[in-house]
This record gives sequence, C-alpha cells and structure tokens, in this order.
Amino acid sequence: MIDKATVQKITDTADIVEVVSDYVHLIKRGRNYVGLCPFHNEKTPSFSVNSVRNFCYCFSCKKGGSPVNFIMEKEGLSYHDALLHLAQKYGIKVEEKELSEDERRQLNERESLLLANEWASKKMEKALRDTEEGRAVGLQYLYQRGVTDEAIKKFRLGYNLDNGHSLYDDAKLEGMDLNSLAEVGVLGQSQKTPGAYYDRFRGRVIFPVLNPSGKVVALGGRDLKGGMAKYINSPESSIYKKSNELYGIFQAKGEIAKQDNCFLVEGYMDVIGMWQSGMENVVASSGTALTDGQIAMIHRFTNNITLIYDGDAAGIKASLRGIDMLLAHKMNVKVLLLPDGHDPDSFAREHTPEQFREYVQKHATDIIRFKAQVLLKDVGNDPQKRVAAIESVVSSLAHIPDKVKRNVYVQECSRILGVREEVIEGAVEKSRSDVVERQMRQRQTDEINRLDQQETNPQPDVSKQLRPTKGREIVEMYPYYPFERNIVFQCVRYGIMDFCEAEFEDGSLDMLSVAEYVAEEIQEDNIWFSFPAFAKTFNRILDLKEDFLNDNVAFNANLEKEKKEMLKVGYDEIASRDLNMEEIRRAERLLEDRVNEELAQRRFEFARYYVEQKLSSHHDDDVRRTVTEAMHEEQPLSNIYIRNNPVSERKMEIDRMRMLVPRGVLEWKNEMLNQMIRAKMKQLDSMIGRASHEEEQKILMETQALMEKRGQLGKVMGDRTIGKKIK
Ligand code: CTP
Ligand code: MN
Repeated sequence: MIDKATVQKITDTADIVEVVSDYVHLIKRGRNYVGLCPFHNEKTPSFSVNSVRNFCYCFSCKKGGSPVNFIMEKEGLSYHDALLHLAQKYGIKVEEKELSEDERRQLNERESLLLANEWASKKMEKALRDTEEGRAVGLQYLYQRGVTDEAIKKFRLGYNLDNGHSLYDDAKLEGMDLNSLAEVGVLGQSQKTPGAYYDRFRGRVIFPVLNPSGKVVALGGRDLKGGMAKYINSPESSIYKKSNELYGIFQAKGEIAKQDNCFLVEGYMDVIGMWQSGMENVVASSGTALTDGQIAMIHRFTNNITLIYDGDAAGIKASLRGIDMLLAHKMNVKVLLLPDGHDPDSFAREHTPEQFREYVQKHATDIIRFKAQVLLKDVGNDPQKRVAAIESVVSSLAHIPDKVKRNVYVQECSRILGVREEVIEGAVEKSRSDVVERQMRQRQTDEINRLDQQETNPQPDVSKQLRPTKGREIVEMYPYYPFERNIVFQCVRYGIMDFCEAEFEDGSLDMLSVAEYVAEEIQEDNIWFSFPAFAKTFNRILDLKEDFLNDNVAFNANLEKEKKEMLKVGYDEIASRDLNMEEIRRAERLLEDRVNEELAQRRFEFARYYVEQKLSSHHDDDVRRTVTEAMHEEQPLSNIYIRNNPVSERKMEIDRMRMLVPRGVLEWKNEMLNQMIRAKMKQLDSMIGRASHEEEQKILMETQALMEKRGQLGKVMGDRTIGKKIK
C-alpha cells in the first residue's frame, strides 16, 4: 500500500503533457495539445490533452483520463502499479504504508502463492532441457508438434518428470513452503501418508498461464501418454480465477495494442501455433466460454477482436455464443472459420505464415453479417424459423451501445434478411430499451452484492448533518439511474462551487455548494443515490468541502500576492510611458480591470476543476470511473468562443450550472412521483370490486395528493433556488 500523502504527491506531480508525450507526439493547439491517439489507429489526430485540467481524451475512441488512468490503460497496469510507474518517472520515493494485519496476511498469501508458481515454473522449464527424460519425452513431443525453441522460451514451456516426487524432493531440499505449493496444485497431498506430497503434473508438458504483468498465476499440464485427462490445470486460488485469465495475454498485449486487434482462440497450442505464424496478437480462453472479465482485459488493449473457430457445426455454434456480450462491451467483433477439421494450431502447421495471414485477410467476417448469413441459411422456406432468425439478429443488434453503428447494421441486416429497414429498426430500438434496462439492473445488483460483501466503512461526520442516515435503504428502493447519473455528473463538474446561501436551524447562515444543495434537496424527499458508484462518488464530493475551504485560503492568499505583483509591474510600465494624467488614469483603470478579470477567471477555474482534480485519480475504481466518465461527457463550448471571450464563457457556464442542477433534481423528483403515482393506480386497479369503498377512497386521495405535489414541484423548486431557507 502506498500512503495517502505519497499518492497525493504523485498525482499532483504527474503532468499529463509530459506523461502522454512519452507515447505520443503532441502539437500545441490553443490551450490544448493534440496528437494521434495511442489507443487506436488513426491518421488525423483526435487525441486531446488539456494541461490546465491535467486530463487527456480521445474524441474518437473515448479513452483517456488522468495521468494515472492513462498509464493504467496504456501499460495495462493496476492502479497501484500505475502509481509506482509514475513515481519512478518523477523520482518520487514511495513509502509503502504499514499494512493492517489482515492486508498483510492477504498480501503474504498472494505473494507466497505466486512465489510457489514461479519456483515450480522455473524448475519445469529447466527439467525440459536439462534432464534426459525432459529432452526425450517433453522436448521430443513439442518438436514433433512443430514447436520452436523460440516459442518454448517465450511461453516458458516446461516438463515435470514422471517419477512423482522430483519437485517435492527439490521443494523440501530448498525449504520451499509445501503448503503454498499444494495450494497452487503443484503438489498433491498423499491420501495414504498424511503429511506427504507428490508431484501433481508428473509426466506432463507444462504451459504456464501468465497474468498481464507476467506473473505465473496457473499451470496447465498436457498428458503425453493417452491418459484420462488431456489437461490438468491449477485449481482456483486467491491468485487464479480461471474465468478471469487469458492464456497468452502477457506475451500478446503489446502486439494487440499495436495491431489494434486481438485474435481469440481456444487452446494453449493454438496460441503457440498462431504466434509462430507471426500473428502474435493472440490469446486463448482455454476452452471455456468468454467471460466479462476476459473481455474487459482485452478491451484494455483494443476494441477489435477476431474469434477463430473450426469451421464445423460445433465451431459455428460456438462462434455465435458470446457475441451479444462482446457487442455490449463495445467491441468490434469479427469471426474467422478455419476449414472443417482444422484448429489454428493444425492450420498453422500445414500452411506458411503468408498463407495463414492471407486466409485471415480473406475470410474474417463481421460477426453480425456472419450471424445473419448463418441463420438465414438454416431457414429455408419455414416462416417460423425465419421469424426466429430475425428475432435473434435483432437481439444482437440491440446489444450495440452506439446508435450510429446500430443503424449501419440495421441497413445491412435488412438487406441480408430481406426485411424492410424500418421494421428491423423498430424492433431493434424496442429491444434496445429492454437491454439497457436489464444491464442497468444487473450492474446495480452486482454493485450492491459487492458492497454487501465489503465491510461498510463508517462515514465521517459532516457538519450540520447533511449526510443521510439511511442512505443504503433508500438507495435500494429508488433505482433512478439516469437521473442520478445526470446529477452526479453535474456535481463532478460544479459540485464544490457556491450555489446559494442557506439559513440553518441554529440561525447561522452558510453558503451551500452545488453538491450540498443537491443533498439538501433530495433528502427533503427522502431520496438518495441508489446506484452505489454514484452514491460513493457523491459522498466523496461532499467530503471535499473541508479540503476545499482550506485549500481555498491558501489559493487566495497566493492570488493576492500575485495580484499585487501584476499591478506593480503594470503601474511601473504605465509610469514609464509618456502619458498625461487623464491617459494614466485610463490606463490604470484598464490594467485593474484586466487584473481583476484574470483573478476572477483563476478563482472560477480553481473551484470549477477542483472536484475532478481531486477525484480523477482516486483509488476507488467506481469513483475514478464515474469522475472520468463525467469529464469525458462534457460538452465543450465552441473553441472559437472560448478563445475570444473567456468572460462570457465563464458566465455562460455558471448560468448553465444554475439552470441544469435544479432542473436535474426536479426531473429526478418528478420521475419518482410519476412512479409512485403509477404504483397507486395499479393498486387501485387491483382493488376494484375487492376492497371497501373507504379503502378505495383512501388510495384515490393519496394518488391525488401525489399528483398535486407533482404539479407544485416546478414552482416550489423555482422559488427555493432563489433564496433557500433550511429549517
Ligand atoms: N482444456 C482443459 N482441460 C481439458 C481439455 C481442454 O483445460 N481437459 C483447455 C485447454 O486450455 C486447452 C483448451 O481447453 O488448450 C482447448 O482444448 P483442446 O482443443 O482439446 O486442446 P488443445 O489445446 O487443442 O490441445 P492439443 O492440440 O494438444 O490436443
Ligand atoms: Mn489442438
């Protein structure tokens, strides 16, 4: 763990222009820099770097963020490792924080498991080459399958001797931790003699599975004797979740980013075969269906994936299986079918690299086009099958988040399926809202589950009880995702800026920030953020208030000093000119205006960018992601406008804030009332003929009250924003 002060130092020091310049040639343009995006291939620059806000963003592929984000993405590093990377770049000494008992235990456990795997892996690499048996059995097998020495080295292939105790003996001799070796499945526990161990991978060729940073997280051992299990693999442990790893990612990641494409195959040997054919951007899902975690890992390096399957029926079916998930991740998916009976490994062996590459070029097909064609082939004259095929294609199309892209496919699929475009489009858009809703709920359940598993940290107390006590309960009841998103994004932008004055119970007056105003407003109706990432981010924004007040004092003191300096320089300059009294007075007034304007702009920017400055490198993934997303989504005012008129730009932005924030709250509340009204109506419906007249009347009154409240909402909000009074 890196202590908080050091994290602060790193994020304060890391300069986005410098960090990005290590990868991209930047050209200054106005207040920003631009260059060719390092995350995708392009010919005209759409990658923009803003030095004032210490932030970068690709307008085309939408990647970017703070320096930490950039390094995480570019180098495929964790948050922690990205910080270390930056610390090293800037020569900042990193003090690792004292770990709690629990953290130390977990870390130690992980380290010792990784150590066990690394140790075993090294031993087996050595055994493959330095023992008689290794060469005669293991190496011989690999050579016979056409594996080169280069590939053996690159993929760290190994061999475990067949006697059943060679590793165990070495481990004892070298004082290795036997428990760890057993936990990662290198050793097995003997049933007969308790406390004794044996080599689990005996007589097998070993394929180590490396994570993106090159740590051996698992081993796969291939049988060579025609035994029962062709492969045995490491069991799951705290360092290995099978569904989260991709075989080959460490060796392939650089090439994936460079080629801006990732080949996905099924097995260890396929990865090696493709690699030997010069297609190094290849990973394997190891025989299981692709998972969200694996897609996310690929997505760190590219948006483009090409699935490679055997051209038989099973391969075709498999290729269609995970596509909705891939599309939902905004991946561009292609599929490549190999001639019947071939896997990439056998195909690579029977063709030259040139032939293989040519085959890929020629036969890789867009997955949706492919799906439409495959399904259509099956239909024949059966109208029912035809409807089912169309529905299935529509469902896939509905998973594409980007509307423009969706429409392109709608056109194409309408042509392939022979159905009118409007029909497909209508069906897709209808299905799209279901998909979005489902994804939203899923994300939410995932988040809530995750939060439930975490220990809930007590929230620090904030003066005047702005924080809700029942946050979590309220939360789960009101999943108003889009409304919450809108408000939390506004608060990332404007959260710390002054919004209005409020009078508290004790008679004190205080300035409410935008975020505090939102908190007051929504709590009044017992609303809070239901989406955990938003709740967390919003709380962090509220927490910033105290820091802001402190920082603001220092900032203003500094500014005052600068002001004096600027005025002094200006007065001296005016005095040095040959002017009469009248002219001097005019020049001085102009100077003072200019200086005041400059200061006003600086003060504005300080508050305006304070939240993003503090939170865009936050350690919590949810907070960092939410803030980064909000920053990405900003609609910039036109560049010409900004350059020519900073005063009106500032005023416009403040106006925009004053309008958008209360409106967002209003819409949220309004939606809540709508849903409550709808629920009451439903209740009424189901009561008819079943409940007493009084009961019906009661619900009716309640419904009417809600409707009235909804009618009042706009007016009340309008009044309140002018001079808020809090009791
Ligand atoms: N696999 C596994 N356990 C098995 C069978 C398969 O873990 N019992 C995984 C392995 O990662 C394997 C992949 O599924 O690489 C694909 O399986 P398969 O095609 O059967 O194996 P190949 O890698 O093609 O191995 P080989 O060519 O040596 O038969
Ligand atoms: Mn094979």
